[in-house]
Amino acid sequence: MCKSSGSYPGKLFIVEGIDGSGKSTQIDLLHKWLLSQGYSTFFSEWNSSPLVKRTTKRGKSKRLLTPLTFSLIHATDFADRTERNIVPPLKAGAAVLADRYVYTAFARDVARGVDPQWVREVYSFAVKPTVAFYFRVPLEVALDRILTGRPELKWYEAGMDLGLSEDPYESFKLFQGRILEQYDAMVDEFDLQVIDGTLPIAEQQQQVRSIVQPYLQHLLRRPDDAFTYRRRQAGE
Ligand SMILES: Nc1ncnc2c1ncn2[C@@H]1O[C@H](COP(=O)(O)OP(=O)(O)O)[C@@H](O)[C@H]1O
Ligand SMILES: [Mg+2]
Repeated sequence: MCKSSGSYPGKLFIVEGIDGSGKSTQIDLLHKWLLSQGYSTFFSEWNSSPLVKRTTKRGKSKRLLTPLTFSLIHATDFADRTERNIVPPLKAGAAVLADRYVYTAFARDVARGVDPQWVREVYSFAVKPTVAFYFRVPLEVALDRILTGRPELKWYEAGMDLGLSEDPYESFKLFQGRILEQYDAMVDEFDLQVIDGTLPIAEQQQQVRSIVQPYLQHLLRRPDDAFTYRRRQAGE
């Protein structure tokens, strides 16, 4: 990754892990906490750039994507969000939060058979996070959490393009297992901050906050809102 978030006044906190590991739950709680503390925050979600949304949707629904084009289309999404949503708030000194980051691409694309070195080079423009949390859970725990309602699995989501199994649920399990292996192998390579994702939600959040806390000192604060203003007026 080219630039460390250390070269900006803002801080970048990101969450990673397999589906059902509790990433969104934890980053959402972190986001709310940072807001309640008065910090200026920006939130960026994987695969949300308007630039390639329609192409991605079409490619997926018509099953046109190969491992390589799947990887490149997500890299384009990420490049757009880096330039529009991630770097500007970091320059302004805000806390930037991302639900999934480059490690999602590294884990998933490599699980699809893409060359590990190649995909790392494609994302070499990415800003290195201040803290990259990895919520580690055994495969069975994650599967239990998300497959209980037997949700409809999408073709690429289930990894059906890999031809691992005819059954989408079986394919999903095998695919997630491969992704989990990749995440585990990246812990040392990228200095991921491992959180035991099997712990209760509140306990994990406690750990997340205490890891984030030391980085908050000089972050940008939101302009006073009406509530703070009224309290000040009342001399509290
Ligand atoms: N620590 C936890 N213990 C039990 N269930 C959890 C825990 N964290 C999250 N969940 C539940 O598991 C499901 C998946 O969580 P989510 O945060 O959406 O995971 P992800 O974003 O990693 O796919 C949700 O129903 C959520 O409420
Ligand atoms: Mg999620």
